[in-house]
Amino acid sequence: MTHGHHGDAHHAHDDADSEAGGADLLDLDGEVLRDYWDTALDRVAAAVASAPSVAPVRVVDLGAGTGTGSLGLARRLPEAEVYAVDISAPSLARVDAKARVAGVDDRVRTVEHDLDAGWPDLAPVDLTWASMALHHLDDPVRSLGDLRRMTREGGLVAVAEFDEPMRFLPDDLGTGTPGFESRALAVLSAAHGEELPHLGASWAQLLGEAGWTVVAEHEIDIDLPSPDHPLAGRYARTWFDRLAHGLTDRLEAEDLRILEDLLDDDGPHALLHRTDLHLHGVRTVTIARR
Ligand SMILES: C[S@@+](CC[C@H](N)C(=O)[O-])C[C@H]1O[C@@H](n2cnc3c(N)ncnc32)[C@H](O)[C@@H]1O
Repeated sequence: MTHGHHGDAHHAHDDADSEAGGADLLDLDGEVLRDYWDTALDRVAAAVASAPSVAPVRVVDLGAGTGTGSLGLARRLPEAEVYAVDISAPSLARVDAKARVAGVDDRVRTVEHDLDAGWPDLAPVDLTWASMALHHLDDPVRSLGDLRRMTREGGLVAVAEFDEPMRFLPDDLGTGTPGFESRALAVLSAAHGEELPHLGASWAQLLGEAGWTVVAEHEIDIDLPSPDHPLAGRYARTWFDRLAHGLTDRLEAEDLRILEDLLDDDGPHALLHRTDLHLHGVRTVTIARR
């Protein structure tokens, strides 16, 4: 997520837009990839059920974003109090709103906090869900080690991270040289290599380094032809719009033109109206015990 590096109004506006785009993307991820989320959170709830020493009283959602995990866990663990921790106030406002609508605002609480500055006082923790957030932190092993010390003996942490980035597009888009998405992902991966060195790490290994005992790894395939979900085109559009914001200076001129075609909602190649999208990705949920 971007923060206000520049004090001027123009950048402040850009950042607010970018933050809203990021929150929209997270909400769409939760809605369009509902089967993935259900599978992942069911696995976590099952791990809690089969660990009789864990009373899931206090659940932390680390880098909760807009709360797909917080709400899903509150539903699955009706005794639990869930603390949604994130640095982004606009995202947490969405968590609060969803908790009210779901009638669980008495036990889903939001905590605005920068985890790179250490943990807020949430001990003793029974279960932590950390989805696609640890790779944003400066030192995930330190954060996981501190979390372990705040966690009750026998308590669990579940880390969900990407094995493969989401893919949406067929090779031939009917515009430009085929293979656009692979080229764009290569550029994205190069940018991430510089900015997010932990993306693609072995989370089982990092959990071990932080003192946790890994008890399960679940690789979950995401495979969804777009006509299966009415918001798939919107999700793809939001994804590529964010790509366009971050990478325009790194893409070749032809690929920039293709990206414009995809984002032109009234044009013949618009992501919003395509019927040839096919969503693929792989995420792994690694569960570890204190
Ligand atoms: C890719 S999103 C994942 C959100 C959510 N867990 C999900 O899976 O939908 C990463 C989240 O980590 C949060 N984040 C990044 N750096 C953070 C930090 N230093 N402290 C707290 N939250 C942070 C971001 O604000 C964002 O909401």
